[in-house]
Amino acid sequence: MEELKERIIKEGQVIGSNILKVDRFLNHQIDPVFMQRIGKQFAKLFAPQNISKVITIESSGIAPAVMTGLALQVPVIFIRKKKPVTANEEVLVTDVYSFTKKVTNTIYIEKGLLTPDDRVLIIDDFLANGEASLGLVRLIELSGAKVAGIGIVVEKSFQEGRRRLDQAGYAVHSLARVASLEKGEVQFLD
Ligand code: G4P
Repeated sequence: MEELKERIIKEGQVIGSNILKVDRFLNHQIDPVFMQRIGKQFAKLFAPQNISKVITIESSGIAPAVMTGLALQVPVIFIRKKKPVTANEEVLVTDVYSFTKKVTNTIYIEKGLLTPDDRVLIIDDFLANGEASLGLVRLIELSGAKVAGIGIVVEKSFQEGRRRLDQAGYAVHSLARVASLEKGEVQFLD
């Protein structure tokens, strides 16, 4: 998505050699009008997949996921990293390890929220090592539903996530694919 690449070049900040800060439109301040175009783009890419629900993980995945759900006119589920007080005992659980933050989060979904009839689209803001996406895949599959695709706003192609998701056979679309962040410069793959 050319507009996204332009915004990354213009407003992004490279931290070290592997972190991209995009706090002006995605990770802290959100540009809702731009986010809506991102949602429409995902909706277009995944239109043939007959999506019945969108799923993401808190917090930064929520904005693009809601906009995608709006464009597809389907419900959006966001997965929390802490069990809410309102959760009943009927939950499905998996652990997600973050290499970036060096923490493990146990993530939950209430049983029955997804059913075997659901075709679920995973949306996330960043793809690094793929742990978050693979955690969502496990929750969807534990629910008996089908993973119909994975939409990523910014993929860091120099990390392992994309290769792992491709190898597992999931249909992945990333709106920007970052090949390198070396020397403070953003290089795109395509
Ligand atoms: P992975 O799921 O692909 O394995 O990624 P990893 O655990 O390494 O990333 C953990 C968190 O760090 C995720 O946010 C992810 O979005 C974020 N992250 C990873 N690389 C970058 C980057 O280059 N730039 C930015 N801005 N974020 C990055 P999270 O823990 O889920 O937190 P939240 O911000 O969504 O609340």
